[in-house]
Amino acid sequence: MSRIVVTGRIPEAGLDVLRRAGEVWAWDADEPIPDDVRDRQLATADAAVTLLTDRVDDAFLAAGPGLRVVANVAVGYNNIDVAACRERGVVVTNTPGVLTDATADLAMALTLMVTRRLGEGERLIRAGTPWQWGMFMMLGSGLQGRQLGVIGMGAIGEALADRARAFGMTIAYHNRRAVDAATEERLGARLVGLHELLETSDVVSLNCPYSDATHHLIDAAALDRMQETAFLVNTARGPIVDEAALATALRDGRIAGAALDVFEHEPDVHPDLLGLDNVVLVPHLGSATIETRSAMAELAARNVVEILAGREPLTPVSA
Ligand code: DGY
Repeated sequence: MSRIVVTGRIPEAGLDVLRRAGEVWAWDADEPIPDDVRDRQLATADAAVTLLTDRVDDAFLAAGPGLRVVANVAVGYNNIDVAACRERGVVVTNTPGVLTDATADLAMALTLMVTRRLGEGERLIRAGTPWQWGMFMMLGSGLQGRQLGVIGMGAIGEALADRARAFGMTIAYHNRRAVDAATEERLGARLVGLHELLETSDVVSLNCPYSDATHHLIDAAALDRMQETAFLVNTARGPIVDEAALATALRDGRIAGAALDVFEHEPDVHPDLLGLDNVVLVPHLGSATIETRSAMAELAARNVVEILAGREPLTPVSA
């Protein structure tokens, strides 16, 4: 019987599928699994189900010499050394598709929060600060007729653009290649260079994967290109943004605001961001709905089932 190691807590929907495929051992606590416990379990494992907080590197793979698959319960897989897995013949899978709507919803929510100063308003009330409705009180920026610039027009970028269209925004995007003509037409979206996107967008949303190529894509120079009235929204991965440079740009009013779901040194947040009112900070909630997390766990589990049965995985990733 195959042995499957699950390195963190996942919804029952995933465990149910896994239990039909083999003997399942799952770390059942919210804190990260200690390396020695993990390594003991991996020693006899055929499959590992991992979370984005796991580092699947040489040490992980060496601990699990019998591994045939690493199924990440996330669409992003920058936590996995895919090349090292491939060298050892270990298949890597992720969970695209099932979290598209939840993540796009969150990106839209963050866009509204930061442009309408909702976090600031909430903090004001919770602090017991006296206030009264006023014509000029806490004015934000409307979205109608404004340009959303999407960096990374994959499924989540497209789903966000759909939502932004419903709010009356126009869409520009920057991507390795153009999306198909029908999608461009539906979204009224135009492909532009990165500099043009940064210089002309009212809201810049990061929806690209994290890799060496996108590390600090948004650095001081990129922030300088943005308009003083523009906002940055990151629901992708923290290290795409140079957080220190962002804190400086926000403090100096170089851009109007930012909303971050992900952080450069997660779960730590740059201390300079914490005191700023023009930044919304939420703890990596992009896919955090009950339905979505169940669907992610189930898809990861189904990938394990396929590999252990000698079939092709549903959603493999390549290096
Ligand atoms: C992912 O799946 O990569 C997301 O970041 C999880 O919320």
